[in-house]
Amino acid sequence: MTHKAKIAVFISGTGTNLAALLYASRLDDAAYEIVLVASNVSDAAGLALAQLEGIATFTHSHKGISREEQDAAMEAAVVEAGGDFIVLAGYMRILSDSFVERWEGQILNIHPSLLPKYKGLDTFARAIEAGDSHAGSSVHIVTPELDAGEVLAQVRVAIAPDDTPEALAARVKPAEHQLYPRAVADYVSRGYDPEYLYAKVRELALALPETHERDSHGSPGFRVGTEKSGKFFAHFNDQHHGSQHIAVLVKTGSMDELLDLVEAQPEAYFKPAYYGASGWIGVILNRPGVDWEHVGEWLHRSWRSVAPARLTKLLDAADQF
Ligand code: GAR
Repeated sequence: MTHKAKIAVFISGTGTNLAALLYASRLDDAAYEIVLVASNVSDAAGLALAQLEGIATFTHSHKGISREEQDAAMEAAVVEAGGDFIVLAGYMRILSDSFVERWEGQILNIHPSLLPKYKGLDTFARAIEAGDSHAGSSVHIVTPELDAGEVLAQVRVAIAPDDTPEALAARVKPAEHQLYPRAVADYVSRGYDPEYLYAKVRELALALPETHERDSHGSPGFRVGTEKSGKFFAHFNDQHHGSQHIAVLVKTGSMDELLDLVEAQPEAYFKPAYYGASGWIGVILNRPGVDWEHVGEWLHRSWRSVAPARLTKLLDAADQF
């Protein structure tokens, strides 16, 4: 594993999920390291554990200040610690919309129910009351709407006939400790996983009009036009020809444009080997902060540069409105 994501964990309480995340991060080949444990409660037990284990901690009470002020203080600590992701582990504060939007796709939460069931509080009592056969826990991406972001993973825990919320909560905890480190590791490493990156590129490329997939020199390519006379507008490359990059190759307007981009943003672009003077540029995908909307725009532009006139004319006409 070449890349280790840096995560900040927010807690309000005991921190048993923090402990699970922490010791998972100490195993060989862990996908992440914890760079900060932050809390709104100064005597949260998890802070002491973090300190004992040599991890930076931060506390800032939410009392008497606005949600935005509290979030800004926590955020500043994360930025200073160099965190790429924020992992909520029993952090019992609702985050402000502006904070969540700034960290879109970079905040994860664990919620003790099988979402979309039982958002909010008292999840175990509600599951027992409803006569459910199973309770459980879900890891999800945090979005402005409470407990409503995409669910990444879940674990189911059977409910006993005479269960109490407390007894059930105690059985869900160890299940969470299995779930959370795995879900966090999968999520933070997916931006480096060729299968995930390929699936993203494929989805964007095939969403363009009259496109199909065809291998070219052993890697997936995407063409526009008919099966017979179509032209390639994108190639997916997974560390080709000794390169470290996982990338999508798209067409620039000229060799000059290509060289200018590679010079100005070598972290984002490269000149692929064996693509001659034809203006194909490599857009690097296995790096932090890839802007998928921008990748989509590149695909669209490349598509447009080789699509038959009958297709581009239609789009031009649509653009007029
Ligand atoms: C966990 O069970 C977690 O699912 C829950 O708080 C507990 C924290 O325990 N989170 C929520 O209820 C979020 N709404 P821990 O401090 O022992 O990790």
